[in-house]
Amino acid sequence: METRPGPDLSYDAALAAFEWLIELGATDPVGDAPVNRYELVTPDPIAAAPPPPVAETRPQRPVPVLVPVDTVDPVAVARALAARAKTLEDLREAILGFEHCPLKLGARNTVFCDGNPKARVMLIGEAPGKDEDAQGKPFVGRAGQLLDRMLAAVGLDRASPDPATAVYITNVMPWRPPGNREPETSEIAMMGPFLARHVELVDPDLIVLMGNTACAAALNARGITRLRGSWAQAFGRPAMPTLHPANLLRTPINKRLVWADLLELRAKLNAL
Ligand code: URA
Repeated sequence: METRPGPDLSYDAALAAFEWLIELGATDPVGDAPVNRYELVTPDPIAAAPPPPVAETRPQRPVPVLVPVDTVDPVAVARALAARAKTLEDLREAILGFEHCPLKLGARNTVFCDGNPKARVMLIGEAPGKDEDAQGKPFVGRAGQLLDRMLAAVGLDRASPDPATAVYITNVMPWRPPGNREPETSEIAMMGPFLARHVELVDPDLIVLMGNTACAAALNARGITRLRGSWAQAFGRPAMPTLHPANLLRTPINKRLVWADLLELRAKLNAL
């Protein structure tokens, strides 16, 4: 069989294209022309079959109803799954079983929470980074270590068994986005019902929203430098937007802003 390409593609170009396809995961050469599978209607094996002989009196099998994948509303699915979760463990299972978020495909772990679920304060971050993805826990990398030191300065500790001094930590997204990119609006929206249920089940007195993604998910607002420092309402309770600890690693001068926000948090905790 002639395997060399035709005159409009050099042998090297064809070989490179072929290697690229293999890298993408292609395993089976099936035809000369490309097939756009998104446009394919799943063939109905029953309709395609030749009609049965006239003499045969077999009952017709029902024609299966094919639901195109893109008619599934991930937010509605998430809402239904989240509503059924009666405990945090149920919620973790529900998230583990949610198959509509593309980030899940590239993540090594589902990062659900850390800290004390009885804590008065619940912290919400953005999404796992490399270290969190590897360990399956939120805020364990450099940003997390800085966060722990800042919390300690206002008498809070994620390892504390005492709800008065404990914190509970989660993220808007339980899966690491590729290359640590920001989660997309659609991804934030589909994980929103899980986050809302998470807050309901933990039932903290106060929430801290760390960074723009947390504010987008909880307040439907962005602009953290404008939002930070003033109490807002999220999920029916007071929420303090503040800068994300990763921002402080890049811009240490901003630590004074977060310090002011944490003092405000401390004051409100004392007052409640
Ligand atoms: N940044 C986040 O927002 N969350 C983590 O868990 C780690 C880094």
